[in-house]
Amino acid sequence: MLRMTGLSQDQLRKTESVLVPIVTLSNEHLPQITQHLKDLSEHDRHLRFGYTATDEHINRYVQSLNFERDEIYGIFNTELEIIAMAHLAIIKKEGRESSSEFGVSVSAHARARGYGARLFDRAVIHARNEKVYQMYIHALSENAPMIKIARKGGARIERDGAETEAYLSLPKRDLDSRITEFVADQYAKTNYSIKEDAKRFWNFLAKVQEIRQGVRETRHQAAE
Ligand SMILES: CC(C)(COP(=O)(O)OP(=O)(O)OC[C@H]1O[C@@H](n2cnc3c(N)ncnc32)[C@H](O)[C@@H]1OP(=O)(O)O)[C@@H](O)C(=O)NCCC(=O)NCCS
Repeated sequence: MLRMTGLSQDQLRKTESVLVPIVTLSNEHLPQITQHLKDLSEHDRHLRFGYTATDEHINRYVQSLNFERDEIYGIFNTELEIIAMAHLAIIKKEGRESSSEFGVSVSAHARARGYGARLFDRAVIHARNEKVYQMYIHALSENAPMIKIARKGGARIERDGAETEAYLSLPKRDLDSRITEFVADQYAKTNYSIKEDAKRFWNFLAKVQEIRQGVRETRHQAAE
């Protein structure tokens, strides 16, 4: 299958260092979302949720995800495990302008590659296209990378001791924001399906090798 797509795993990785495929997640990704969050250390869970979330808290958080209203994004490795994810919660109130809250986590081994910033950019584009022009991020004041991402995005930062709030007013949507979202989405879908094909192919190959090994062992025993 990899031959059919013309891409080796190495090529796939190289492409991704230039373009980061960000998939819009749905119910079918719940197991990977849960796994990603449970793999975070205690400290990272504290940074992400504002408290040291237990596995039970994570289960409840994942069950409460609303894929219709909100946008949940994921970056996958070639094993189709989530190595970074973001949650853009949309808040709509009667008679008020819509707003949103952004939360993100990147697996420890995948940090400082720009994934956090790319997920933020992706969420901003979507919020704008949905005419949601206010975005809010809650971070602990010690969280330098998160505050950097928000500041670079033009956020007003308000520090109150250990807690920091970041408020963004987003530019109005335009043709560019709509095309950007469309292209980002198509690229991510194609990339995901290539990874699915690749994973199927390698699983198939592993099965064939397992069978061949079994046959070899049986022949060997029969010859003894
Ligand atoms: C915050 C977090 C998402 C950042 O993800 P990331 O993919 O490592 O971030 P990026 O690679 O996009 O880096 C963003 C910026 O922070 C900088 N940065 C990265 N690690 C840093 C560190 N340890 N200290 C200071 N700055 C750092 C990067 O250089 C980059 O700045 P630049 O654009 O000027 O180069 C990640 O650290 C994480 O998952 N932490 C645990 C959960 C969490 O804190 N969530 C945020 C609360 S909602």
